[in-house]
Amino acid sequence: MKILSFPFALAFLLLLFSLGQTVGDLDSDKQALLSFASAFPHNPKLNWDYTSPVCASWVGITCDKNDSRVIAIRLPGVGLRGPIPANTLGKLDALTALSLRSNHLSGDLPSDLLSIPSLHFVFLQHNNLSGAIPSDLSPQIVLLDLSFNSFSGIIPSTVQNLTQLTSLSLQNNSLTGSLPDLKVTRLRQLNFSYNNLNGSIPSDLGKFPASSFEGNKMLCGPPLNQCSSFTPSPSPSPACLPPSPIVPPVPKDGSKKKQIRGYIIAIGAGSSGVLVFLLFVIVICCSKKKDGQSKGLLKNKDGWIEKPKEDFGSGVQEAEKNKLVFFEGCSYNFDLEDLLRASAEVLGKGNYGTTYKAILEEGTTVVVKRLKDVVVGKREFEQQMETAGRVGQHLNIVPLRAYYYSKDEKLVVYDYMAAGSFSTLLHGNRDIGRNPLDWESRVKICLETARGIAHIHSAGVGKFIHGNIKASNVLITQDSRGCISDFGLTSLMSYPTVPSRGAGYRAPEVIEARKSTQKSDVYSFGVLLLEMLTGKAPVQTHGHDDVVDLPRWVQSVVREEWTAEVFDLELVSRQNIEEEMVQMLQIAMACVSKMPESRPTMQEVIRMIEEMRPFDSEDRPSLDENKPSNTQNP
Ligand SMILES: *[C@@H]1O[C@H](CO)[C@@H](O)[C@H](O)[C@H]1NC(C)=O
Ligand SMILES: *[C@@H]1O[C@H](CO)[C@@H](O)[C@H](O)[C@H]1NC(C)=O
Ligand SMILES: *[C@@H]1O[C@H](CO)[C@@H](O)[C@H](O)[C@H]1NC(C)=O
Ligand SMILES: *[C@@H]1O[C@H](CO)[C@@H](O)[C@H](O)[C@H]1NC(C)=O
Ligand SMILES: *[C@@H]1O[C@H](CO)[C@@H](O)[C@H](O)[C@H]1NC(C)=O
Ligand SMILES: *[C@@H]1O[C@H](CO)[C@@H](O)[C@H](O)[C@H]1NC(C)=O
Repeated sequence: MKILSFPFALAFLLLLFSLGQTVGDLDSDKQALLSFASAFPHNPKLNWDYTSPVCASWVGITCDKNDSRVIAIRLPGVGLRGPIPANTLGKLDALTALSLRSNHLSGDLPSDLLSIPSLHFVFLQHNNLSGAIPSDLSPQIVLLDLSFNSFSGIIPSTVQNLTQLTSLSLQNNSLTGSLPDLKVTRLRQLNFSYNNLNGSIPSDLGKFPASSFEGNKMLCGPPLNQCSSFTPSPSPSPACLPPSPIVPPVPKDGSKKKQIRGYIIAIGAGSSGVLVFLLFVIVICCSKKKDGQSKGLLKNKDGWIEKPKEDFGSGVQEAEKNKLVFFEGCSYNFDLEDLLRASAEVLGKGNYGTTYKAILEEGTTVVVKRLKDVVVGKREFEQQMETAGRVGQHLNIVPLRAYYYSKDEKLVVYDYMAAGSFSTLLHGNRDIGRNPLDWESRVKICLETARGIAHIHSAGVGKFIHGNIKASNVLITQDSRGCISDFGLTSLMSYPTVPSRGAGYRAPEVIEARKSTQKSDVYSFGVLLLEMLTGKAPVQTHGHDDVVDLPRWVQSVVREEWTAEVFDLELVSRQNIEEEMVQMLQIAMACVSKMPESRPTMQEVIRMIEEMRPFDSEDRPSLDENKPSNTQNP
């Protein structure tokens, strides 16, 4: 009896303990929120009811994945009036985002609030909070907006220790004293305007515009007026980011670059009608009949393709060499001939060549990319392919299935993704009343893409890059998963010339020095995020002469309040996602920093997105669906 009951008791205790852990945590979060709400007893918009589930039905509350903690509070403009009580929100020690902006909150900010260790995003602008800014700040803070309040006193020196800070907005308060010497590597947005600050502007901050400092009569130094008299003024710093120390481009294509003979312009016509894929091969063969080297390639006979000659001498070897090479674990069962006999449809034309959807006779559909401007030899090509096949095994990377290399033709074969590309989902059929891609899906696809890229970056002791991240290379699986395609191709290619119509996804250093790195991948991913947020393509394909550089455009439009102007109209009609959009914008802007070293790593990007929004998504009720139902009308 005793022998039996002991393990049971132990198990029971453990169970109780583990239950107590999580329930206790969410419970204490709930208690803290209720104490907060009790300070605003007659607020009709707070439907926080003790008996209803916090994570599922409380307005403005977001929980983590498994509903075990409250991680975000978003109550913008709900009419909260009076002071924020101490010892309430400060107890939510899993909180990552707090938005109480545009209310009528007044009095001191409780000192336990900004010190919550997990806190990343703080939106308290447009209230009437007063007193000093608490000096105890969470080192995790990425965005701190205290603008348009009545804060006074000095800016606490502890902001200098915020290494993650990308945005600091303190304008329109009554702050005094001198400016802190901020860590500027991550900082994208800074506003000290309309306070009573004095002294000289630290030189590192000189790169921000004058409008970040205006309205402080006693402030001096670039970008404002020089400090007068003998005050040692900080060395004048340029008004923009210093040019990166980059070696001038070494032209390395040209000589190596080989045009594939037998180009078919007809295929390039871009129509999506069904073409016979083998047509181009026939033309290739015809155009180079006399070339002995093409022996291994397929030959034209009676208008159809003949098997490689297997009967004479070196021909066997050639034939072997030129076979379609499948990757391990791939269930496809066709050969080059089948592939060439397939009917093909042009899916798109990119820097690396034309992509076809090929439907084989047995019914299988695959994607075939016909690479142009391959600059590496056969062995290197094969090695690269093997690496790409091996490294690219990840849920969020489009698997490479096979490749083919001959002197004149280089093909890669991928799975076909029927749901299309992120680019199509974002930009396709906009004018004909399509179903807009909702915010949840956009964030999910971006996060998944980020995971794919991070996987590439982490493999092989960090030596791999993707090199061609763009929305049309993000493909969507049947079950709506985002996958990055084209991994492993960059190193095979000559650098594409930069089109004059804009940088698109290319980082400044890629354009200047033709130097792709993991950080330039991060830049491209940042542009992808901006594309998703704004609904604007970074490269405008038709007509317009005006050069669009999405990062610069966003920067020019974004104001201190992060107004909705930049965001995709398909998104702004939705409620309650504005804070998330702003947070995503912050992440995107960090990714497109001019200086590579200021950009976060993909891992950090993933962490930031995950923290912004707990992701398991599909079954998470959208905030729209649980709007306050005014059950608590006074
Ligand atoms: C909930 O998820 C977090 C990590 O996201 C984990 O630490 C915690 O143990 C999980 N709790 C439960 C009850 O599964
Ligand atoms: C803001 O609070 C101050 C006191 O701290 C008060 O004098 C002022 O009238 C308030 N302003 C508004 C707009 O409520
Ligand atoms: C910043 O951090 C360093 C070490 O982490 C510490 O010594 C210093 O006191 C901190 N500065 C402020 C202003 O908190
Ligand atoms: C911010 O301060 C400036 C200068 O005092 C003023 O012109 C502007 O109207 C203020 N903005 C708001 C929203 O109070
Ligand atoms: C800045 O103002 C503070 C008081 O707000 C004063 O003590 C300090 O001397 C001033 N510094 C300069 C450089 O004017
Ligand atoms: C800073 O805030 C002021 C006042 O609201 C605004 O006029 C200015 O454009 C802002 N500057 C920046 C760089 O955000």
